[in-house]
Amino acid sequence: MAIYLLLLCFFFLVISSSVLGCDRCVHQSKAAYFSSNAALSSGACGYKSLALGFNGGYLAAGASSLFRDGVGCGACFQIRCKNQKICSKAGTKVILTDLNKSNETDFVLSNKAFFGMAQKGMGQNMLKQGVVDVEYKRIPCDYKKQNLSVRVEESSQKPHYLAIKFLYQGGQTDIAGVDVAQVGRSNYMYLTRNHGAIWDTSRFPMGPLQFRIVVTGGYDGKMVWAPNVLPADWKTGVIYDANVQIDDIAQEGCSSCDDQEWK
Ligand SMILES: *[C@@H]1O[C@H](CO)[C@@H](O)[C@H](O)[C@H]1NC(C)=O
Ligand SMILES: *[C@@H]1O[C@H](CO)[C@@H](O)[C@H](O)[C@H]1NC(C)=O
Ligand SMILES: *[C@@H]1O[C@H](CO)[C@@H](O)[C@H](O)[C@H]1NC(C)=O
Repeated sequence: MAIYLLLLCFFFLVISSSVLGCDRCVHQSKAAYFSSNAALSSGACGYKSLALGFNGGYLAAGASSLFRDGVGCGACFQIRCKNQKICSKAGTKVILTDLNKSNETDFVLSNKAFFGMAQKGMGQNMLKQGVVDVEYKRIPCDYKKQNLSVRVEESSQKPHYLAIKFLYQGGQTDIAGVDVAQVGRSNYMYLTRNHGAIWDTSRFPMGPLQFRIVVTGGYDGKMVWAPNVLPADWKTGVIYDANVQIDDIAQEGCSSCDDQEWK
């Protein structure tokens, strides 16, 4: 137990040092757009066509610094462009569903999201710009009507392999670790991030499954227990409700941060 706690502390130290980018602060960059949304669903996060249904189609591919080897998948951002003649003050709110390694822009947006940064009637002007100067900040994702959910990936095969991805992770947090155990038992086994939002393991119990998730937001980390998620006869391709909500707001120790709401 003591060793476990020690490992956990170490884990949090490693994690907190990797999120010191103060992503809730305002950053200056550029954004471009995809003329087709297909690019955003082929994505590095592994959401596939599900991505197209997220957040009303307001989607983004982020640079490596935002994608963070998959940790950034599902994070939400508010982005506004800077040309006062055509850009609205509130800009657009997007969810990150893909990686784009362009060294020029931090974001490549879905057509809809890019259009969404324009003032009324200025959408076509906006699209003509192609690449625009923007500022952005990470914001909490808002899923009041949807609990955290677990989708069992097609590659899963009882009893050898379990691959899942998390959907509807609200708040302004990262999933830093995932453990699985049989419902009612306490011998957890860990999953590792395979890529993007996908976690997997070749060691997991039979029977109904519960999950324990380490969630971090800046300096703070906490455990979220989802005590009853997968039934014993879980099937691939199915989305299961985890019956919990994650809605924590990041507690980063950023010095001067613009906390004003963009409206
Ligand atoms: C990255 O975005 C650009 C548009 O700015 C696009 O042309 C390119 O294909 C994208 N790269 C990938 C790997 O999706
Ligand atoms: C982006 O990368 C390309 C090729 O690696 C390079 O030629 C170009 O100068 C870079 N652009 C910027 C803005 O760094
Ligand atoms: C979310 O989980 C709560 C708590 O278990 C449950 O009461 C509620 O019905 C769930 N909401 C949805 C939309 O499934």
